[in-house]
Amino acid sequence: MEKKLLFLIVFAALPFALLAQSNDGRVFAQENGAAKQKESCITEKCHTGMGKEKFVHGPVAVGECTACHRQIKKHKFEPITDIGKLCDECHEKLTTMKVVHAPVKAGKCSKCHDPHQSPYKFQLRAEGAFLCFNCHDKGMIGGKFVHGPVAVGSCSTCHTMHQSEFPKLLLAKGNEVCFNCHADKADAFKNKKFVHAPVQESCVNCHSPHGGNFQYNFKADGKRDLCFTCHSDKEKEVKEATVPHKGLDTAKSCLACHDPHVSNYVKQLTMQPAELCMSCHDREYNGQNGRVANMKAMLANNSIHHGPIKQNDCSGCHNTHGSNNYRMLREFFPQLFYAGYSQDNYKLCFMCHEKSIANDERTTTLTAFRNGDQNLHFVHVNKMVKGRTCRACHDAHATNNPRHIRDAVPFAKWQLPVGFTKTETGGKCLPGCHQLFGYDRAKPVVNKPLTTAR
Ligand code: HEC
Ligand code: HEC
Ligand code: HEC
Ligand code: HEC
Ligand code: HEC
Ligand code: HEC
Ligand code: HEC
Ligand code: HEC
Ligand code: HEC
Ligand code: HEC
Ligand code: HEC
Ligand code: HEC
Ligand code: HEC
Repeated sequence: MEKKLLFLIVFAALPFALLAQSNDGRVFAQENGAAKQKESCITEKCHTGMGKEKFVHGPVAVGECTACHRQIKKHKFEPITDIGKLCDECHEKLTTMKVVHAPVKAGKCSKCHDPHQSPYKFQLRAEGAFLCFNCHDKGMIGGKFVHGPVAVGSCSTCHTMHQSEFPKLLLAKGNEVCFNCHADKADAFKNKKFVHAPVQESCVNCHSPHGGNFQYNFKADGKRDLCFTCHSDKEKEVKEATVPHKGLDTAKSCLACHDPHVSNYVKQLTMQPAELCMSCHDREYNGQNGRVANMKAMLANNSIHHGPIKQNDCSGCHNTHGSNNYRMLREFFPQLFYAGYSQDNYKLCFMCHEKSIANDERTTTLTAFRNGDQNLHFVHVNKMVKGRTCRACHDAHATNNPRHIRDAVPFAKWQLPVGFTKTETGGKCLPGCHQLFGYDRAKPVVNKPLTTAR
């Protein structure tokens, strides 16, 4: 407290002793009090209202008009030019911190405080948010949704009025402002492995602290459009996909899979990635591109899982947000049973596997699907017409046979059997396609000439 204020209080102690408090809490100088006796400015004719409001400024209450008004001659007073400086004479300076509210900096204390009295505490000129809206646009809290504390006009639960060490006159640093009230969120966000970058930075990246036209005070729909305001690349990807994922179109949209705040799983996922897919793919769909198998049951019924699936990585092959390939695959893979050969047709598989697997007629290295040095991948796949696609023998997800050879393959409406048996150095097939054929890498099998073929 400044010396002057101390002095004033001591000086004012005598008249204060004579002050009275009325029933309604009003503080004012008594008719016969010190103020009156000292040739006061408050008389029956002059300044009669002075001191009658609910909240009266200390020096006014004791009739010390001259503490502020310097008399030049009788009833002539010097105009007060620098109000801020005047207030500073008795009050602590309010311009010492990093951020000072513009009107305080400009010494315009009386824009908010009446220097004499007012019906509101601290002699304020208006109550709560109304005071602020004398200068700030009321539209800033407009919108269908208004944040709890703003709705009750309580700006000061987050902002200081005069000055602050933090930007925007806030009471605390960064997200702490929010955690002051949303303590449950602070607890829930603690000890999570991953925090979404904008959450780490500031809650107001997404939530307006005051209000907005969308639920939770967003500037766009929080389930989807809000995400696109920052993830514009994803917006493009999602909107331009010729094979979109209907998993994005549930009521929860992006939030079906992502947590907007924190997560224990990579990429803000709400569950372990493959489990997440199974949360919907635990049933069959009659989808936009035909039947979509129940993948959970499929994986449960087939015990040998393909490498990426063992690692819970469905995204190794599928782009969950949609793609321009059949079944939302990351790279091209033929949709039909047969396809003319081109290495590019199998880009999907060749992201991870040897690209030239079916290029050469003879090999001793490219593949184990050989009869001696005869490349049987070449035989089946490398044809200009009716080349067998990988699916004719392999399942991309899981099988009960080694090397992901399927029991049967959908061939129009028929489940065409593959009939595979693996041996130490080769194998045998009795498929629906042809008679029993064997292959052996060490001792080539001499098969009977082809008698039946599809
Ligand atoms: C704490 C300082 C202070 C005290 C004490 C004070 N005044 Fe003032 N008064 C001011 C200021 C500052 C203004 C100018 C207000 C403005 O421009 O916003 C003012 C303005 C006035 C005005 C001009 C009209 C108006 O209301 O703006 C009158 C009249 C007045 N005061 C009378 C009094 C009387 C009578 C007393 C004693 C009962 C008194 N004042 C005590 C600070 C004070
Ligand atoms: C001559 C000294 C003096 C001047 C000048 C002065 N004040 Fe005061 N002010 C006081 C005293 C004394 C009190 C009563 C102290 C208390 O109740 O703790 C007070 C109280 C207040 C209060 C209420 C504080 C509370 O805790 O209830 C506000 C607000 C205030 N003054 C604002 C101003 C403003 C704005 C100015 C400038 C226009 C100003 N004062 C100028 C002496 C002064
Ligand atoms: C933008 C409006 C505004 C301006 C400008 C302003 N005040 Fe205040 N002041 C308030 C409000 C509102 C309060 C009520 C306390 C709170 O909510 O923090 C307050 C409280 C006070 C108090 C009493 C409580 C405390 O914090 O000690 C004093 C004294 C005070 N102001 C003095 C001043 C002085 C001196 C100035 C000018 C330098 C000034 N005010 C400028 C809005 C303002
Ligand atoms: C007398 C006019 C006036 C009043 C009343 C007023 N303000 Fe301000 N306020 C300003 C001005 C001027 C600025 C600076 C605006 C700018 O830079 O665009 C400002 C800026 C602010 C800022 C931003 C500070 C920054 O560092 O960017 C906040 C927050 C703020 N005011 C809150 C409030 C609150 C809360 C109230 C009500 C208690 C209030 N204001 C009342 C005039 C006022
Ligand atoms: C829940 C806390 C909270 C409440 C309550 C609150 N604000 Fe804010 N306000 C903030 C935060 C946080 C910011 C900073 C926003 C940012 O950085 O984008 C802010 C910014 C502002 C700004 C500066 C705007 C700008 O664009 O720079 C003004 C002015 C303001 N608030 C006024 C008010 C007024 C007036 C009220 C009461 C009607 C109020 N605030 C209530 C938290 C709050
Ligand atoms: C002064 C206490 C307070 C502070 C500080 C505060 N809030 Fe709130 N917030 C509330 C209240 C009260 C509600 C309304 C709760 C309700 O309706 O269930 C609310 C509601 C919300 C909601 C909507 C929740 C719902 O279920 O509808 C969001 C989002 C929110 N606050 C975010 C924030 C953010 C971000 C901040 C920091 C900028 C913040 N809050 C600071 C008190 C606060
Ligand atoms: C990337 C944008 C984003 C950021 C940043 C963000 N949120 Fe949210 N928040 C959301 C979304 C989206 C929802 C809606 C969740 C839902 O519908 O399940 C939400 C909902 C909420 C809710 C209300 C619903 C609930 O879960 O209780 C609160 C409260 C909340 N957020 C607080 C915070 C706080 C505190 C911060 C800062 C630590 C923060 N948010 C940062 C996007 C964000
Ligand atoms: C305010 C901007 C902003 C908004 C809004 C936003 N994000 Fe983000 N998001 C980011 C930033 C920045 C990163 C970090 C990017 C990076 O590291 O390359 C990120 C990262 C991510 C990541 C990857 C996380 C990781 O661990 O690699 C996912 C997933 C994500 N956001 C989903 C969402 C979803 C879903 C929404 C809507 C609910 C959303 N985001 C809204 C800014 C935003
Ligand atoms: C069906 C579940 C699902 C839905 C719905 C979903 N995502 Fe994702 N998202 C994922 C998975 C799984 C990953 C991680 C693998 C990947 O990158 O494809 C991911 C990754 C991301 C990434 C990080 C990309 C990167 O390269 O690191 C962003 C950003 C993202 N999603 C945004 C969104 C947005 C925006 C939406 C809503 C339009 C959305 N997601 C809807 C499952 C989903
Ligand atoms: C929120 C539910 C949901 C989640 C989670 C989900 N999906 Fe889907 N998915 C669907 C629905 C519904 C369809 C069938 C839609 C249709 O075509 O009508 C579908 C279809 C598909 C299709 C076939 C697309 C086509 O049209 O050919 C693939 C492939 C697929 N999902 C993969 C995944 C993968 C991989 C994951 C995990 C990263 C996943 N899904 C997570 C709901 C979901
Ligand atoms: C090695 C690549 C690969 C991986 C990893 C993969 N898929 Fe697939 N997925 C495919 C291919 C290829 C197809 C098209 C199969 C066909 O039509 O022969 C497909 C088709 C699908 C379909 C449509 C099913 C149907 O009826 O044809 C769904 C659903 C699906 N995948 C979900 C998943 C899920 C869930 C995971 C993770 C557990 C996953 N995929 C992992 C390659 C993969
Ligand atoms: C994202 C990478 C990836 C993609 C794409 C991929 N695979 Fe695989 N594949 C693997 C991994 C990893 C293994 C396991 C290798 C191991 O166990 O040594 C594997 C194993 C195999 C095996 C069994 C090999 C063995 O030694 O048992 C076959 C057959 C196979 N993949 C076929 C395919 C076909 C057909 C495609 C295209 C539809 C494909 N893969 C796409 C990663 C991939
Ligand atoms: C006619 C059935 C058939 C077709 C069609 C077929 N494969 Fe195979 N593939 C096999 C058999 C059988 C094996 C197991 C060889 C062994 O280990 O005895 C095999 C093995 C593999 C392996 C394990 C490594 C190796 O070469 O031995 C990969 C990878 C593979 N195939 C990928 C593919 C890809 C990619 C396609 C499509 C371009 C494809 N296969 C088409 C039958 C087929």
